[in-house]
Amino acid sequence: MSDLKRGLSEAVAAAFAAAGLPAELGRVTPSDRPDLADFQCNGALAAAKTARRDPREIAAGVTATLAADPRLSVVEIAGLGFINMRVSDTALSERANEIAADPRLGAAVVETTRRILVDYAGPNVAKPMHVGHLRSSIIGEAIKRIYRFRGDIVVGDAHFGDWGYQMGLLIGAVMDENPFVKALMDQLNSRAAPITSEEEKTAFAALQDRVSLDDLDRLYPEAAAKGKAEIEYRERARRLTAELQSKTPGYHLLWRHFARVTKVALERDFHSLGVDFDLWKGESDVDDLIAPMVKDLDDKGLLVDDQGARIIRVARQGDKRDLPPLLVVSSEGSAMYGTTDLATVLDREKSFDPDHVLYVVDQRQADHFEVVFRAAYLAGYAPEGSLEHIGFGTMNGIDGKPFKTREGGVLKLNDLIEMTRTKARERLREADLGAELDPDAFDDTAHKVAVAALKFADLQNFRGTSYVFDLDRFSSFEGKTGPYLLYQAVRVKSLLRKAQGEGVKPGPITVADPAERDLVLLLDAFDQALTDAYEKRAPHFVAEHAFKLAQAFSRFYAACPILSAEPTLRSSRLALADTTLRQLEQALDLLGITAPARM
Ligand code: ARG
Repeated sequence: MSDLKRGLSEAVAAAFAAAGLPAELGRVTPSDRPDLADFQCNGALAAAKTARRDPREIAAGVTATLAADPRLSVVEIAGLGFINMRVSDTALSERANEIAADPRLGAAVVETTRRILVDYAGPNVAKPMHVGHLRSSIIGEAIKRIYRFRGDIVVGDAHFGDWGYQMGLLIGAVMDENPFVKALMDQLNSRAAPITSEEEKTAFAALQDRVSLDDLDRLYPEAAAKGKAEIEYRERARRLTAELQSKTPGYHLLWRHFARVTKVALERDFHSLGVDFDLWKGESDVDDLIAPMVKDLDDKGLLVDDQGARIIRVARQGDKRDLPPLLVVSSEGSAMYGTTDLATVLDREKSFDPDHVLYVVDQRQADHFEVVFRAAYLAGYAPEGSLEHIGFGTMNGIDGKPFKTREGGVLKLNDLIEMTRTKARERLREADLGAELDPDAFDDTAHKVAVAALKFADLQNFRGTSYVFDLDRFSSFEGKTGPYLLYQAVRVKSLLRKAQGEGVKPGPITVADPAERDLVLLLDAFDQALTDAYEKRAPHFVAEHAFKLAQAFSRFYAACPILSAEPTLRSSRLALADTTLRQLEQALDLLGITAPARM
């Protein structure tokens, strides 16, 4: 089964070939002038240029062949030689019934299944998440779902940041503040015998009571600032990081406590946003691979000594920008951010063997990834071109700078969700929605509206674009917003409930009204939106499709009476509404957005 555009492209290609012209010229696109045509082909103009002939004459030959195609009600030449096509009501009706019966709602699957790993979110132990993490989570989740829906084998990994300098900072800060922890560390670190599991349990229980996530959240920014300002403080943090990485028993235990409390809270926050990972691996998970990797890099002659550190030079002649080398081992002997990334490439090759890895990370890390990828290719750890950075712009405040809280701090994900939920409740009340819901259902609806507002605001833009966080606008039920989409979906749901109550059943779809035609043409365009999103790793194509579909439904609903129509027409329109809802919900699901049953 293929969409109309593809089906027509084949016919037009054959018509070009029959005229002795290249078949590729027969590419059909949706019309720029929907008032005049459904589809168009510009191939005659291109053909005319190469063949030095009159484009209208070429178009006339092609149109003559196409005139016999039963799917087309009108084939005409417009302007300089464009071929305009209108699809017949019969062909549109057929396509509508095909989509209605298709569990995939008209979406094709990829020809060759690939194994894809999506590295996204990238939260860190104790460092609060900033909007870059939020965008990565939203975009990465959508990319993961779109790839999976298209038929690839996809694994999403949170790539938890748990092994860097921030850990040394935090270990130091907690010991400074808490004499109990300091004493515990002294005691555990000086032991010769390994810690027994019984002792470990007792230590974890003690830490559980004494060092909370709030403590870490409070201590980290202070420690980070101090590390920037004071050399000695920074050196100690680096030393502690190196000691942690060489598994000094006390620090290692304390670090596991940090990772555990952070992860529990993060998973909860992500889950409430509809972001769930298949893998929650950390930078620390590849620690055992680092020593053999360093040896291997050395054997391959890639490591260079540089003031006590060991680096790989990746710059090439002709580079447009200066790329720093990859810092593999710091002068303290620590593994760095790039080291764990390189070792993670190896780990993934071993454990998943991906055909392609997508790193959904802030555009500001573009150089970092270019350096890591080049090092990986040089070392032969991944096939050239199989690692790809999917960058994105920033979410800004009204001041045009990366979004901060009113107090100027980093925004916590949980606070952002809460703030958006509060706004959603307000908006629902303003719009007189949800009045008959019980309090739990109202909260659930408000939560879904909030998630839709946040995610759609992000996903409607091409990911490379930065955008301004404007909660008032994002949460409105009017305009190009997530709440608008949910509202349209809920309208269809209540229509379907009403029909069911009246015993009306969907039936075969027959298209006639212009609003019905437009709606079916959009349903047909779903596959193209998915193909574009897939190929360009850009979920906004799906967001755009969902929005247009909701608008087309709204116009159809206004123009075409449904339940009051005569029985055959009523069943047809009901089926069309039902199909639209299913495709809309599928598209929303790919964006990580869920519509409530009522509002
Ligand atoms: N934890 C990192 C950060 O906060 C993002 C991780 C992105 N993924 C990666 N493989 N480096 O900046």
